Amino acid sequence: MDSPIGIFDSGVGGTSIWKEITKLLPIERTIYLADSRHAPYGEKRKEKILERCINNVELLLEKDCKLIVVACNTATTNAIDYLREHYSVPFIGIEPAIKPAALQTKTKKVGVLATKGTLASDLFNSTAKLHASGIEVFEREGRGLVELIEAGKTASEETEQLLKGYLHPMVQENVDCMVLGCTHYPYLIPVLEKLLPPHVKIIDSGEAVARQTKNVLEKKELLNSALSRNPQYVFYTNKDLTVLNTFVNRKETKISFLDF
Ligand code: DGL
Repeated sequence: MDSPIGIFDSGVGGTSIWKEITKLLPIERTIYLADSRHAPYGEKRKEKILERCINNVELLLEKDCKLIVVACNTATTNAIDYLREHYSVPFIGIEPAIKPAALQTKTKKVGVLATKGTLASDLFNSTAKLHASGIEVFEREGRGLVELIEAGKTASEETEQLLKGYLHPMVQENVDCMVLGCTHYPYLIPVLEKLLPPHVKIIDSGEAVARQTKNVLEKKELLNSALSRNPQYVFYTNKDLTVLNTFVNRKETKISFLDF
Protein backbone atom coordinates (compact mmCIF):
# COMPACT_ATOMS: atom_id res chain seq x y z
CA MET A 1 0.00 0.00 0.00
CA ASP A 2 1.74 3.15 -1.11
CA SER A 3 -0.13 5.68 1.05
CA PRO A 4 2.30 7.63 3.22
CA ILE A 5 3.23 7.18 6.86
CA GLY A 6 2.13 10.27 8.82
CA ILE A 7 4.46 11.66 11.46
CA PHE A 8 3.95 14.65 13.76
CA ASP A 9 5.72 16.48 16.55
CA SER A 10 5.53 19.85 18.28
CA GLY A 11 8.33 20.88 15.94
CA VAL A 12 11.62 19.69 14.50
CA GLY A 13 12.41 17.06 17.18
CA GLY A 14 10.41 14.24 15.61
CA THR A 15 12.69 14.41 12.58
CA SER A 16 15.10 12.33 14.71
CA ILE A 17 12.44 9.60 14.53
CA TRP A 18 11.74 10.25 10.84
CA LYS A 19 15.44 9.58 10.11
CA GLU A 20 15.27 6.19 11.84
CA ILE A 21 12.08 5.31 9.96
CA THR A 22 13.57 6.14 6.56
CA LYS A 23 16.66 4.05 7.39
CA LEU A 24 14.58 0.98 8.20
CA LEU A 25 11.82 1.52 5.63
CA PRO A 26 13.59 3.12 2.67
CA ILE A 27 10.78 2.80 0.15
CA GLU A 28 7.99 4.24 2.31
CA ARG A 29 6.64 7.73 1.64
CA THR A 30 6.25 10.02 4.64
CA ILE A 31 4.35 13.19 5.50
CA TYR A 32 5.68 15.10 8.50
CA LEU A 33 3.94 17.89 10.40
CA ALA A 34 6.14 20.22 12.45
CA ASP A 35 3.77 22.08 14.74
CA SER A 36 6.54 24.52 15.72
CA ARG A 37 4.18 27.45 16.18
CA HIS A 38 2.71 25.63 19.17
CA ALA A 39 5.99 24.37 20.67
CA PRO A 40 6.74 23.56 23.37
CA TYR A 41 3.89 21.12 24.05
CA GLY A 42 5.61 20.21 27.31
CA GLU A 43 4.55 23.45 28.99
CA LYS A 44 0.90 23.12 27.97
CA ARG A 45 -2.09 21.67 29.81
CA LYS A 46 -3.17 18.15 28.83
CA GLU A 47 -6.37 19.45 27.14
CA LYS A 48 -4.37 21.80 24.94
CA ILE A 49 -1.90 19.03 23.98
CA LEU A 50 -4.85 16.81 23.08
CA GLU A 51 -6.39 19.57 20.96
CA ARG A 52 -3.14 19.96 18.99
CA CYS A 53 -2.85 16.18 18.53
CA ILE A 54 -6.41 15.94 17.19
CA ASN A 55 -5.72 18.78 14.76
CA ASN A 56 -2.53 17.09 13.52
CA VAL A 57 -4.13 13.67 13.18
CA GLU A 58 -7.13 15.04 11.23
CA LEU A 59 -4.76 16.76 8.82
CA LEU A 60 -2.67 13.62 8.28
CA LEU A 61 -5.81 11.57 7.71
CA GLU A 62 -6.99 14.10 5.11
CA LYS A 63 -3.68 13.43 3.39
CA ASP A 64 -4.48 9.71 3.32
CA CYS A 65 -1.87 8.46 5.82
CA LYS A 66 -2.07 4.71 6.50
CA LEU A 67 -0.41 4.84 9.92
CA ILE A 68 0.50 7.72 12.24
CA VAL A 69 3.68 8.02 14.28
CA VAL A 70 3.27 10.35 17.24
CA ALA A 71 6.94 11.38 17.22
CA CYS A 72 6.71 13.26 20.50
CA ASN A 73 6.93 11.87 24.03
CA THR A 74 4.76 14.66 25.42
CA ALA A 75 1.99 14.05 22.88
CA THR A 76 2.18 10.27 23.30
CA THR A 77 2.09 10.25 27.08
CA ASN A 78 -0.82 12.71 27.17
CA ALA A 79 -2.93 11.75 24.17
CA ILE A 80 -2.24 8.34 22.64
CA ASP A 81 -4.99 6.51 24.54
CA TYR A 82 -7.54 9.04 23.31
CA LEU A 83 -6.26 8.86 19.73
CA ARG A 84 -6.39 5.05 19.66
CA GLU A 85 -9.92 5.10 21.02
CA HIS A 86 -11.23 7.64 18.51
CA TYR A 87 -9.48 6.83 15.22
CA SER A 88 -9.17 3.52 13.41
CA VAL A 89 -5.75 4.20 11.85
CA PRO A 90 -2.85 2.47 13.67
CA PHE A 91 -0.77 4.73 15.94
CA ILE A 92 2.85 4.31 17.00
CA GLY A 93 3.89 6.32 20.04
CA ILE A 94 7.13 7.10 21.83
CA GLU A 95 7.82 7.05 25.54
CA PRO A 96 11.01 7.53 27.57
CA ALA A 97 13.03 4.30 27.37
CA ILE A 98 12.93 3.43 31.06
CA LYS A 99 12.77 -0.31 30.44
CA PRO A 100 16.01 -0.64 28.43
CA ALA A 101 17.72 1.68 30.91
CA ALA A 102 16.53 -0.43 33.85
CA LEU A 103 17.96 -3.51 32.13
CA GLN A 104 21.34 -1.88 31.47
CA THR A 105 22.10 0.07 34.62
CA LYS A 106 24.76 -1.29 36.93
CA THR A 107 24.52 1.43 39.56
CA LYS A 108 20.72 0.91 39.67
CA LYS A 109 20.38 4.64 39.12
CA VAL A 110 18.94 6.09 35.96
CA GLY A 111 18.47 9.71 34.84
CA VAL A 112 15.54 10.85 32.72
CA LEU A 113 15.58 14.18 30.90
CA ALA A 114 12.13 15.02 29.54
CA THR A 115 9.53 17.76 29.34
CA LYS A 116 7.29 18.80 32.21
CA GLY A 117 4.26 17.42 30.32
CA THR A 118 5.85 13.98 29.94
CA LEU A 119 7.11 13.75 33.51
CA ALA A 120 3.69 14.75 34.86
CA SER A 121 1.72 12.28 32.74
CA ASP A 122 0.00 9.19 34.13
CA LEU A 123 1.40 7.04 31.33
CA PHE A 124 5.02 7.96 32.10
CA ASN A 125 4.53 7.40 35.82
CA SER A 126 2.84 4.04 35.44
CA THR A 127 5.53 2.86 32.96
CA ALA A 128 8.28 4.00 35.30
CA LYS A 129 6.68 2.13 38.19
CA LEU A 130 6.25 -1.00 36.09
CA HIS A 131 9.77 -1.23 34.67
CA ALA A 132 11.93 0.42 37.26
CA SER A 133 11.27 -1.51 40.42
CA GLY A 134 14.50 -1.71 42.39
CA ILE A 135 15.93 1.14 40.32
CA GLU A 136 16.19 4.77 41.40
CA VAL A 137 14.95 7.13 38.70
CA PHE A 138 16.18 10.74 38.77
CA GLU A 139 13.90 12.95 36.69
CA ARG A 140 14.78 16.34 35.33
CA GLU A 141 12.72 18.77 33.30
CA GLY A 142 14.67 20.05 30.30
CA ARG A 143 13.04 23.46 30.50
CA GLY A 144 14.11 25.76 27.66
CA LEU A 145 15.90 23.09 25.62
CA VAL A 146 13.09 22.56 23.09
CA GLU A 147 12.98 26.32 22.42
CA LEU A 148 16.74 26.42 21.79
CA ILE A 149 16.59 23.44 19.41
CA GLU A 150 13.60 24.99 17.62
CA ALA A 151 15.80 28.05 17.08
CA GLY A 152 18.48 25.79 15.57
CA LYS A 153 20.82 26.34 18.54
CA THR A 154 21.76 22.72 19.17
CA ALA A 155 25.42 23.40 19.92
CA SER A 156 25.39 26.93 21.33
CA GLU A 157 27.10 28.01 24.53
CA GLU A 158 23.66 28.80 25.99
CA THR A 159 22.45 25.25 25.30
CA GLU A 160 25.59 23.76 26.81
CA GLN A 161 25.30 25.81 29.99
CA LEU A 162 21.62 24.98 30.46
CA LEU A 163 22.24 21.30 29.89
CA LYS A 164 25.18 21.29 32.28
CA GLY A 165 22.91 22.53 35.07
CA TYR A 166 20.35 19.79 34.36
CA LEU A 167 22.85 16.95 34.11
CA HIS A 168 25.07 17.80 37.07
CA PRO A 169 22.71 16.73 39.91
CA MET A 170 21.97 13.42 38.17
CA VAL A 171 25.66 12.72 37.59
CA GLN A 172 26.29 13.52 41.27
CA GLU A 173 23.76 10.82 42.13
CA ASN A 174 25.86 8.34 40.14
CA VAL A 175 23.40 7.54 37.35
CA ASP A 176 25.00 5.41 34.63
CA CYS A 177 22.17 5.67 32.07
CA MET A 178 20.67 8.89 30.74
CA VAL A 179 17.29 8.45 29.09
CA LEU A 180 16.40 11.09 26.50
CA GLY A 181 12.66 11.45 27.00
CA CYS A 182 12.03 14.00 24.26
CA THR A 183 12.49 13.56 20.51
CA HIS A 184 14.25 16.92 20.28
CA TYR A 185 17.07 15.77 22.57
CA PRO A 186 18.92 13.35 20.24
CA TYR A 187 20.10 16.54 18.51
CA LEU A 188 21.95 17.35 21.73
CA ILE A 189 23.93 14.10 21.76
CA PRO A 190 27.25 15.72 20.74
CA VAL A 191 26.95 18.17 23.67
CA LEU A 192 25.69 15.44 26.00
CA GLU A 193 28.71 13.30 25.15
CA LYS A 194 30.95 16.20 25.97
CA LEU A 195 29.27 16.89 29.32
CA LEU A 196 28.59 13.38 30.63
CA PRO A 197 31.25 11.09 32.10
CA PRO A 198 32.16 8.46 29.49
CA HIS A 199 30.61 5.54 31.41
CA VAL A 200 27.12 7.12 31.26
CA LYS A 201 25.09 5.55 28.48
CA ILE A 202 22.76 7.78 26.50
CA ILE A 203 19.53 6.00 25.69
CA ASP A 204 16.86 7.15 23.26
CA SER A 205 13.93 5.39 21.68
CA GLY A 206 14.24 6.35 17.99
CA GLU A 207 15.35 2.99 16.63
CA ALA A 208 12.78 1.11 18.68
CA VAL A 209 10.00 3.31 17.29
CA ALA A 210 11.15 2.63 13.73
CA ARG A 211 11.20 -1.14 14.41
CA GLN A 212 7.73 -0.98 15.90
CA THR A 213 6.51 1.00 12.88
CA LYS A 214 7.85 -1.70 10.57
CA ASN A 215 6.31 -4.51 12.64
CA VAL A 216 2.87 -2.93 12.65
CA LEU A 217 2.96 -2.19 8.90
CA GLU A 218 3.96 -5.80 8.27
CA LYS A 219 1.32 -7.26 10.55
CA LYS A 220 -1.44 -5.13 9.04
CA GLU A 221 -0.16 -5.74 5.50
CA LEU A 222 0.32 -2.03 4.93
CA LEU A 223 3.93 -2.06 3.69
CA ASN A 224 4.55 -0.29 0.42
CA SER A 225 4.54 -2.95 -2.25
CA ALA A 226 5.71 -0.65 -5.05
CA LEU A 227 9.16 -1.40 -6.35
CA SER A 228 10.10 2.24 -6.67
CA ARG A 229 13.13 3.24 -4.64
CA ASN A 230 12.44 6.95 -4.88
CA PRO A 231 10.31 7.80 -1.90
CA GLN A 232 9.02 11.28 -1.42
CA TYR A 233 9.40 12.97 1.96
CA VAL A 234 6.92 15.77 2.43
CA PHE A 235 7.27 18.21 5.33
CA TYR A 236 4.88 20.89 6.50
CA THR A 237 5.78 23.47 9.09
CA ASN A 238 3.61 26.25 10.46
CA LYS A 239 6.68 28.32 11.41
CA ASP A 240 10.21 28.47 10.04
CA LEU A 241 11.14 26.64 6.83
CA THR A 242 14.81 27.49 7.10
CA VAL A 243 15.28 25.91 10.52
CA LEU A 244 13.36 22.74 9.56
CA ASN A 245 15.47 22.50 6.42
CA THR A 246 18.68 22.35 8.47
CA PHE A 247 17.36 19.18 10.17
CA VAL A 248 16.07 17.34 7.08
CA ASN A 249 18.18 18.58 4.23
CA ARG A 250 18.07 15.69 1.72
CA LYS A 251 17.34 15.72 -1.97
CA GLU A 252 14.10 13.73 -1.59
CA THR A 253 12.58 16.20 0.88
CA LYS A 254 10.06 18.86 0.03
CA ILE A 255 9.29 21.44 2.72
CA SER A 256 6.31 23.79 2.61
CA PHE A 257 4.61 26.25 4.89
CA LEU A 258 1.10 25.29 5.99
CA ASP A 259 -1.19 27.20 8.32
CA PHE A 260 -2.43 24.53 10.74
N1 DGL B 1 9.57 16.46 20.86
C1 DGL B 1 8.68 16.66 21.98
C2 DGL B 1 8.78 15.47 22.94
O1 DGL B 1 9.24 14.43 22.52
C3 DGL B 1 8.94 18.01 22.55
C4 DGL B 1 7.90 18.43 23.48
C5 DGL B 1 7.64 19.88 23.56
O2 DGL B 1 7.26 20.48 22.55
O3 DGL B 1 7.74 20.36 24.68
O4 DGL B 1 8.39 15.52 24.06
